[in-house]
Amino acid sequence: MNCYKFFLIVLASLSIAACDMHPDMHTLSSNKEGSAARVIAANNGCMGCHAVATTIVGPAWKRVSQRYKNTENAKDLLIAKIKSGSKGNWNAETKGQTMPGFEGRMTDEEISIVVDYILALDTTIQN
Ligand code: HEC
Repeated sequence: MNCYKFFLIVLASLSIAACDMHPDMHTLSSNKEGSAARVIAANNGCMGCHAVATTIVGPAWKRVSQRYKNTENAKDLLIAKIKSGSKGNWNAETKGQTMPGFEGRMTDEEISIVVDYILALDTTIQN
């Protein structure tokens, strides 16, 4: 096999691998701020209860993004909810689970980065 053919085969396999990635990973790899937000969310235990596209204990973050995208002051609202915890807004999907507050466990900047990321999910991932 010549070098050119080998190169094409490698390129094709890489493309297949890239297309097969989960939507979360597209967000992660294509958006630097998104990737910082994912690290913060993972380090603070958010992903134990949340995922981007599916409801685990807490609602799918894409659904959160869809619900609040037209709400005035959505960012401040979600920051406040993350600080103080949240309950009763997602009962239909979460069977009444509560979310603990993160005040004092995360910096304002960390919460702000994660909220920007969540609110942008509506447009940054498909499905
Ligand atoms: C122990 C599980 C758990 C953890 C950990 C958790 N959440 Fe939640 N989260 C929930 C539940 C349950 C709800 C739905 C609460 C409700 O019905 O109001 C929720 C709701 C939310 C909402 C929507 C709030 C609303 O009122 O609509 C946001 C935003 C959110 N979580 C972000 C986060 C972030 C960011 C973290 C990490 C810093 C995090 N969550 C960690 C369980 C969790």
